[in-house]
Amino acid sequence: MGKRWRTVKNCCWTLILIAVLLKNCNGNCPEKELERREEEANVVLTGTVEEIMNMDPVHNTYSCKVRVWRYLKGKEVVTNDILVDGGNKVMICGFGEPKICDNQVSTGDTRIFFVNPAPEYMWPAHKNELMLNSSLMRITLRNLEEVESCVEGV
Ligand SMILES: *[C@@H]1O[C@H](CO)[C@@H](O)[C@H](O)[C@H]1NC(C)=O
Repeated sequence: MGKRWRTVKNCCWTLILIAVLLKNCNGNCPEKELERREEEANVVLTGTVEEIMNMDPVHNTYSCKVRVWRYLKGKEVVTNDILVDGGNKVMICGFGEPKICDNQVSTGDTRIFFVNPAPEYMWPAHKNELMLNSSLMRITLRNLEEVESCVEGV
């Protein structure tokens, strides 16, 4: 019994180790450096997902109506055409996009969003919307500080 048990236990540990290693490698979805992500996004904002809409049943992508709390970058890019519901909300499309690693939200989630105005090939359906450009980020003091120092170019 002792020997077999030990084998099972070792096997388990090996599997756990492999799982942890794979997770750290992030599978086949490599995340760019924060600085690159900040450079590629013309707008970085914090906001809360109020509504999930326009779910595409084929691609499993969707848009969200997001209440904006603060612009960390690019407030001037978000013109009146983009603002909805009287001015403190925006539509963001591109959730569920497989090119982006962390691409899923639920109603009520508050995140840092790296976005760009939706490019012309997304028109007319997504005209005047913002589009997710890289992974969602949780709001922690450390994350906010890191994003802010990227924006300031430190
Ligand atoms: C993010 O924006 C850059 C341009 O700033 C673009 O080249 C890149 O394709 C965008 N990434 C995604 C996933 O849309």
